[in-house]
Amino acid sequence: MDPRADRYPFVPGHPPLTIVGATGNYVHTDDGRRILDGAGGAIVNCIGWGRPEMAEAAAAALTGTGYALPTFATEARLSLIERLVEHWLPSGMTRCLFVGGGSESVDSAIRITRQHHVARGHLDKWKVLGRTVSYHGATLASLSVSNHDRRRAGMGPLLMDLPKIDNFDAEQAIKVIEAEDPSTVGAVIAEPVVGASGAAIVAPDDYWPTLRAYCNDHDILLIADEVMTGVGRTGRNFGVDHWNVTPDIIVGSKGLAGGYAAIGGVFATDAVVEPLVGTNVMYFTFSGNDLSCALADRTLQILEEENLVARAAEMGETLRRLLVDRLGSHPNVADIRGLGLLQGIELRDDSVESAGSFDGTLTPLVIEEALARDCWIYPAGSAGVPDGLLFGPAYTVTEAELEQLVDITAASIDAAVGRLRAPS
Ligand SMILES: Cc1ncc(COP(=O)(O)O)c(C=O)c1O
Repeated sequence: MDPRADRYPFVPGHPPLTIVGATGNYVHTDDGRRILDGAGGAIVNCIGWGRPEMAEAAAAALTGTGYALPTFATEARLSLIERLVEHWLPSGMTRCLFVGGGSESVDSAIRITRQHHVARGHLDKWKVLGRTVSYHGATLASLSVSNHDRRRAGMGPLLMDLPKIDNFDAEQAIKVIEAEDPSTVGAVIAEPVVGASGAAIVAPDDYWPTLRAYCNDHDILLIADEVMTGVGRTGRNFGVDHWNVTPDIIVGSKGLAGGYAAIGGVFATDAVVEPLVGTNVMYFTFSGNDLSCALADRTLQILEEENLVARAAEMGETLRRLLVDRLGSHPNVADIRGLGLLQGIELRDDSVESAGSFDGTLTPLVIEEALARDCWIYPAGSAGVPDGLLFGPAYTVTEAELEQLVDITAASIDAAVGRLRAPS
């Protein structure tokens, strides 16, 4: 192991794995291990690692424009917008703003929401309501609309103090908005499949259409946080496509450039943007940098050419079947859920009557056990779902790799529960 890795963690602790390469669905470490990437890193890998086309696109971008101010157009930016609007976004979403990642996209969407209402003279509309189980990012605004208690810990005074709406029951969600007074609410933000905080929670089919109709009636913008669910992850272009809902704003990131470059996007309808004519939406210095836009454009092109969104749907069904067959009646598995290649497991403690919770202590042990077996699974969980696992391999994943992933998951859960229960 590289001894310099000791100095890598900002907060001193154990030296991390040192990654020296990646191909397909595997990452390679400096001590010669090949780790099955069952979560595509942080759910970013969608076309597989080590693609020469991506290296060629990066080289072309880097020898091309250099740094172009975010307000200037470039070929990569124009081509990406054209591809997104023509082939990917729900119809009616025509405006695109590129930023550096998921938190920046949520933060920008919150600012755009406020600018939209202010420009129309609706100064009272400032609240952005998130959901009870949710994660939208680590900037202070995106954390404010999130309800990930572990990631919010200690930050209270710095965050907007806003209520959260229900994840499953749209009528309950609407009651919270009513209590808050809809004329003060600028937007509602929600993940189509709740990832990091909820281990792939999916709302019932009437949830999004009901919320959409309510928001229309009360001049509230509906923001879909598709940072995790976008560009094919759930087996559709965007998660909201499962319910034929067009939000006012979609935010995206993670798989947008296949994990090959840092990029986030804010996508909106003309109606959101028209009131802003004559004003500015402040950019970040590296917003829409050309390398990221070129790699996002190339990623989407590969997804199209290789029909990989349909493959994500198909392999997602395979993954779900394997998980259910292997773990459906496991005593420590409370639920298996998700859409496409974003599947999750909620874990429970079966040793207490009526099945209790391990309070977040089980997940890190399962992840550790899986890594010891050369497999990466993404940890999930927050107060609403204390222990969970998230699976999100590249859409190119094979059935054999999924079998290996599920086998290792089952062994890792057993080993981790055994460790928790071992007399100390
Ligand atoms: C749904 C969702 N939104 C926003 C974010 C924040 O994205 P980033 O970590 O790129 O800032 C995440 C990150 O996990 C996420 O899952």
